[in-house]
Amino acid sequence: MTSDYKPGLEGVVAARTRLSRVDGEAGELTIAGYPVDDLARHASFEEAVYLLWHDRRPSAEELADFTADLAKRRALPSITLSVINEATRRESGAMDVLRMASSTMSLSTCDGRADQARTLIAAIPTIVAAYARMVDGKPIVEPDPTLGHAANFLTMLTGSSPSDAQVRALDAYLLTVCDHGLNASTFAARVIIATESDMVSAVTGAIGALKGPLHGGAPGPALDMVFEILDARTEGESVGAAADRVIRATLEAGERLMGFGHRIYKVRDPRADVLGEAARKLYAVDDTGFYEAATEIEAIALRLLEEHKPGRRLQTNVEFYTALLLHGIGIPSTLFTPIFAMARAAGWTAHCLEQLEANRIYRPQSEYVGAMGRRW
Ligand code: ACO
Repeated sequence: MTSDYKPGLEGVVAARTRLSRVDGEAGELTIAGYPVDDLARHASFEEAVYLLWHDRRPSAEELADFTADLAKRRALPSITLSVINEATRRESGAMDVLRMASSTMSLSTCDGRADQARTLIAAIPTIVAAYARMVDGKPIVEPDPTLGHAANFLTMLTGSSPSDAQVRALDAYLLTVCDHGLNASTFAARVIIATESDMVSAVTGAIGALKGPLHGGAPGPALDMVFEILDARTEGESVGAAADRVIRATLEAGERLMGFGHRIYKVRDPRADVLGEAARKLYAVDDTGFYEAATEIEAIALRLLEEHKPGRRLQTNVEFYTALLLHGIGIPSTLFTPIFAMARAAGWTAHCLEQLEANRIYRPQSEYVGAMGRRW
């Protein structure tokens, strides 16, 4: 039997979508027809969710209704709070807590997949904020229905009102990463929903896929690398010299640099530019030199990656600037991947609804490479 096995399904087209177009050679990302930078600059997260689900912008009235409905769904049932509390007490990781708590959404929503999608979009931020408060031993902060998605999340997280710059920066992040073609977690969600399973199962599975360090788990380690370099500076050593030394040692040890490389982008990830711009504005409010140092580290990392893997075109990916931006908003690195899930839930649910419009169950083949002819 001949086989055209493609490890990691590289280059295989497994779905048709109107949700986002990723052009890895040109470094372009289009979300429902809009260039990602245009969307990140002008939309709110709620508008983007509506756009992805309905393939058009909402009217002012539709947006008001949609936003109010999401706001109504933010509060968590007591069973979900118990799960978060118990998992936090047992020191489960943030993504494990999110996965377990999200799956309890089956108990509070049973009106079909679109209804489940609305509840998940609304409740995931409350889960993340409640987890963060419990880890810190602080009382949880109830959602505020008068606030937008990003402002409400930051308020639930910190217990105080965020600045406009913080809200705008978080909205820019949520919009920039709300969808991205057939990435691993989105594919996982489509595979699950294509069996005619439910939305909570699909999103819970997607959260599991996003957790891994090769997908959504990179921004925490990317920020760690920046701090490691800054802390490793010896007396009088420049950021550049320390970066060169630490990154060389990392690559020589055979380790990967988190926040660099991408399956699809062989030029700079356009999301890195959108988030870089948002981060630059945010850090300019109270300049400590951190942003400048991080971009210097990025430039050295790119030079050393080219030396280490010539011609592989390893570029900065979205996670490097995610780390800088979310750190600048004041968010701890343990929450970076859960906040990615908050954003990508828009894409996951939209892909699931789209999959069901013309569904066919996913059932690829495997090539058998095991033993033959054995007898028990
Ligand atoms: N640091 C060092 N070397 C790298 C890196 C990196 N960040 N990325 C790729 N390489 C090397 C690989 O070791 C490989 O070398 P080899 O062929 O000699 O073994 C070569 O470059 C090509 O890499 P692949 O593994 O084929 O790339 P793939 O498309 O499978 O993986 C991935 C892409 C997982 C993103 C990879 O670049 C990586 O591990 N990056 C670091 C983790 C990261 O930042 N993840 C976030 C991605 S963005 C997102 O998911 C939202």
